[in-house]
Amino acid sequence: MKPTVSVLVPAAGSGRRLGRGPKALVKVGGRTLLEWVLAAFSWADEVLVALPAGVTPPGGGARYLEGGAERQESVARLLERAGGDVVLVHDAARPFVVPEVVERLLAAVGRGGAAVPVAEVPDTLIEPAEGRYGRAHDRHRYALVQTPQAFFREVLAEAHQLARARGTLATDEAQLVQALGYPVELVAGDRRMFKVTYPEDLVLAEALARTWRPGAAG
Ligand code: C5P
Repeated sequence: MKPTVSVLVPAAGSGRRLGRGPKALVKVGGRTLLEWVLAAFSWADEVLVALPAGVTPPGGGARYLEGGAERQESVARLLERAGGDVVLVHDAARPFVVPEVVERLLAAVGRGGAAVPVAEVPDTLIEPAEGRYGRAHDRHRYALVQTPQAFFREVLAEAHQLARARGTLATDEAQLVQALGYPVELVAGDRRMFKVTYPEDLVLAEALARTWRPGAAG
């Protein structure tokens, strides 16, 4: 039988680096970032969204709850209410979800229980030292981690329990699952799934939104 899929959307960020917020409700191409994400996952069995305190749930076929102070806490709260066999954790700040990447993730998660999309590092990567150039790293040894990240729900729940017990705070779920001892499979991501973070990202997003049609997957 086909596994059921819950999509968990942490959308409780303030948008501090963007200079406006809440970020999930910022519009590009006439839709909020969150609306782009909801359209991309309309095929899922359920979609749960964590919003900042005081924000009125916008509707759109998702279930809403209040997020936590950190991204990890927002995801933990969503996970407690999720019922799917597989969970896809996806940042609200990534409006353009490429269906082929989701297909790769769903295939990979079925093999080992955890899979994330990665992209190449396009620039030279350095570790500045006291304001100077410092050490240059071989960028081919590194990758940029995107979302959605796919897990068996029970694996992610165990990973969050362990993180809570240890007081670990991570910027994504894969770190927590790996700390539990599970291998996390990598699939090819897509640079169009960038995270809207800085004001100039909105210019890029506006341009992409002009031709983007949220596609089906799952
Ligand atoms: O801050 P960052 O860009 O890493 O946030 C990634 C995602 O996590 C965003 O979609 C943001 O809304 C969400 N987030 C959250 N709860 C927080 C902080 C961030 O749901 N406390």
